[in-house]
Amino acid sequence: PLPSRVTLVEVGPRDGLQNEKQPVAAAHKIALVHALQGAGLREIEVTSFVSPKWVPQMADNAEVMAGITRQPGVRYSVLTPNLKGWEAAVATRPDEIVVFGAASEAFSQRNINCSIAESIERFAPVVQAARAAGVKVRAAISCAVGCPYEGDIAPERVELVARLMSGIGVQHVGVADTIGVGTPRRVQAALEAALRHFPIDEVSGHFHDTYGMALANVYASLELGIHTFDTSVSGLGGCPYAKGATGNVATEDVVYLLQGLGIDTGIDLDALIDAGAAIRAVLGQPNGSRVARALLAR
Ligand code: HMG
Ligand code: MG
Repeated sequence: PLPSRVTLVEVGPRDGLQNEKQPVAAAHKIALVHALQGAGLREIEVTSFVSPKWVPQMADNAEVMAGITRQPGVRYSVLTPNLKGWEAAVATRPDEIVVFGAASEAFSQRNINCSIAESIERFAPVVQAARAAGVKVRAAISCAVGCPYEGDIAPERVELVARLMSGIGVQHVGVADTIGVGTPRRVQAALEAALRHFPIDEVSGHFHDTYGMALANVYASLELGIHTFDTSVSGLGGCPYAKGATGNVATEDVVYLLQGLGIDTGIDLDALIDAGAAIRAVLGQPNGSRVARALLAR
């Protein structure tokens, strides 16, 4: 049987906006977070504490975190690639941090400027500091099925990185199809590799929709019992170090799928569609959610 309840981690404010070329004012990012929590999202990835030279769009990280009116029951997470990022992040009181590694050496170099082994060495003190402060630690494993530089990635590579992440005390691992090339059986194999080192409650799927496979991959994950997914409202986004990659699967589309399957998410689809339409209006862009487009056209 499929899971009866699914948790969606909204990554639109971070993964969705990090690649945006035009500056997006902190006030719009804060309004987006407010709209998302109003729609029932209970986990929101807000921003990244990364180098502003690498990702200028996230340079307002502290301002955005400070501007959010926190809603009880909502968990706010941020990306922290190193101790410098952690130190800046902890001052803003995140509920959770995300360290981000890769199953591909080439992507690790391009994205965080170090090898996989070096990344684990950098993450270890971050994980230790966060756990000592009572902050939960998630890890993302990028390029878990395919890499823009190396091509197909074998599940063994995911297993290795999941084992290393578990070894340094990471509590949850997100299996990320960064460039959206995955198809259901390959995505299942990557998830199964992560499941050798983390329990089912602590493995999530993070699927970009470049090839239109993300919803199929969500369904394939549900078949394994995976019940946590990163999604992005209106399909916002892309990764600056994965050229041509589109945004994550749209939150609206996943909510519609889950509603159709009778799976509870606690999310109000109409309010969610309004949140996505509002940020797309700010950006002057068409809505990337098929469900939002269909329902807004009625
Ligand atoms: P580096 O250049 O190797 O770092 O970058 P460094 O330690 O040598 O420091 C160089 C400079 O950066 C110094 O400044 C540091 O202070 C500064 P300078 O002295 O030259 O003025 N610096 C920082 N500034 C602010 N915050 C920090 C920080 N660290 C160093 N935390 C680094 C290494 C990791 C920092 C860099 O490569 C970086 O910022 N990369 C960002 C990558 C990124 O954000 N990618 C997108 C997010 S990941 C993603 O989207 C994938 C995901 O969605 C899953 C998926 O889909 O696959 C999660
Ligand atoms: Mg991503």
